[in-house]
Amino acid sequence: MTGVTFLTGSGGLPKLEITTAWSTAEIYLHGAHVTYFQKRGEPPLLFLSDQSRFESGVPIRGGIPIIFPWFGKPADKPGQHGFVRNRSWTLKEIKTTDDGIVTTRLILPPDPELRADDITVEYEVAFSDGLSAEFIVTNKSAQAYAFENCLHTYFAIGDIHSLRVVGLQGVTYLDALDGHQRKTETAEAIRFAGEVDRAYVNTPHRVEIHDTARQRVIRVEKTGSASTVVWNPWIAKAKAMADFGNEEYQRMVCVESGNVAKNQITLAPGGIASLKVKLSSEATA
Ligand code: BG6
Repeated sequence: MTGVTFLTGSGGLPKLEITTAWSTAEIYLHGAHVTYFQKRGEPPLLFLSDQSRFESGVPIRGGIPIIFPWFGKPADKPGQHGFVRNRSWTLKEIKTTDDGIVTTRLILPPDPELRADDITVEYEVAFSDGLSAEFIVTNKSAQAYAFENCLHTYFAIGDIHSLRVVGLQGVTYLDALDGHQRKTETAEAIRFAGEVDRAYVNTPHRVEIHDTARQRVIRVEKTGSASTVVWNPWIAKAKAMADFGNEEYQRMVCVESGNVAKNQITLAPGGIASLKVKLSSEATA
């Protein structure tokens, strides 16, 4: 039955379970974190680690972490990937349209790190046969506000060895495994035979994940995003992460949509920045 149910999730954290005619999904208030999405007749779309922690103050490993207001670990910032993925968000609204699409809107409570009420942050996710997420930052202050953002999506895949990520040929990327050097993607499709950690810049285009093992294609369409980050930790990094299984790198890939590095956003006073990502999938056989 279509609707939203309030439940206690892992670690006692509150979550919403969303059911539509086409899909089921879950979103935790901790981090406004979508941890689960499954279209009927298909395997789950999002990867969630069996080793993930579910505790206040630490991020969930998998699903869609929201990265804001910085990406990575700049020398002048405390910690990695900002802090909103570790905050407890508030449910603002649930809407169900006549055609059965369910939308949840969450808001980040006023945060001293964000000049209290001057910067507001909201997250709206629409669930149907796919998932559309919009991350909205509003600058109500009298000064410009600079930030990075990213919807750091972990996709569930059949086998990383036969996976192809398509749509980034010719794009410049910063290679995090080689001192963030600028390189150009020459391949028609990215394939994986080791760790990959790349921030593709100045690319508003859609990306496709061709999952041969599961005979499925996943589409990542976006607006308000100039960067795409592609990440797989591979063997050594998987082993080094306490909240990630040693073999799980074979069943996931991160294709992240946002605005990072030189693509950071500077929002004028009164400005609104919207980052929208639409995820859809289709069987290929
Ligand atoms: C990716 C980064 O986006 O996130 C990687 O490019 C990083 O360098 C990964 O390892 C995971 O980060 P975290 O903070 O969630 O462990």
